[in-house]
Amino acid sequence: MTNPADDTDARCYALVPCAGIGERAGAGGPKQYRQVAGRSVVARTLAALAHVPRIERTLVVLAADDRGFAISAPDFAGWAERCGGATRAASVAAGLSALADHGVRARDWVLVHDAARCLVRAAAVDRLIDACLVDPIGGLLALPLSDTLKQAGEGERVAATLDRQGKWIAQTPQMFRLGLLRQALARAGPGITDEASAVEALGHAPRLVLGEPDNFKLTWPADFAFAERLLKESS
Ligand code: CTP
Ligand code: MG
Repeated sequence: MTNPADDTDARCYALVPCAGIGERAGAGGPKQYRQVAGRSVVARTLAALAHVPRIERTLVVLAADDRGFAISAPDFAGWAERCGGATRAASVAAGLSALADHGVRARDWVLVHDAARCLVRAAAVDRLIDACLVDPIGGLLALPLSDTLKQAGEGERVAATLDRQGKWIAQTPQMFRLGLLRQALARAGPGITDEASAVEALGHAPRLVLGEPDNFKLTWPADFAFAERLLKESS
């Protein structure tokens, strides 16, 4: 683990995986390039991160054959790399290597944030940074589970009711040091769906920092109309 004494100059960077195909959204193209209330999903996500002064710079991970980013986020001033992989974890791992190539150091912090979470607010990201900068491991935005949790069985019937006590829904950003995260993802392999689970597999306990319901991941077709409604109500 890093000695906190070496740590006073650690900087924060954002890494945005943006190389998915959006299969569950069923839009016939990557969901991060769809318009929501007049602006693309990814442009909204990057604008929100740009409102966090402690983030030095953002790196976006694109698919090798990406054709949507340049027109969807024409004002983006950070690093965009065509190093996306077959899974989200592979895209994030490639993005971490690209950050290292750009001179980001092992002790610097990386906030990994889904391109598809475009309603994230700078205040929540600031809360995560405040909590993690003083933490030896790092952490993630998350929400305590409020609904009762069901295990589905055959034919979409309930097989069991699970105990919701102490359960949280993981969001992003997830904030860890570049060095720890590279080591964790290399060990965990391409199948994991968030950074924290890779860090947990090394025996660490990431900090849970209270997120916000609006910071949901646009995943299903109905999520786009819902996001649009929230954005119109808040404008
Ligand atoms: N992502 C990525 N590389 C992949 C898969 C996903 O960079 N190979 C990114 C997506 O672009 C998205 C984020 O990871 O911003 C979260 O993933 P998810 O919501 O699962 O997006 P998709 O994989 O695109 O959607 P689906 O699983 O429905 O196909
Ligand atoms: Mg996916």
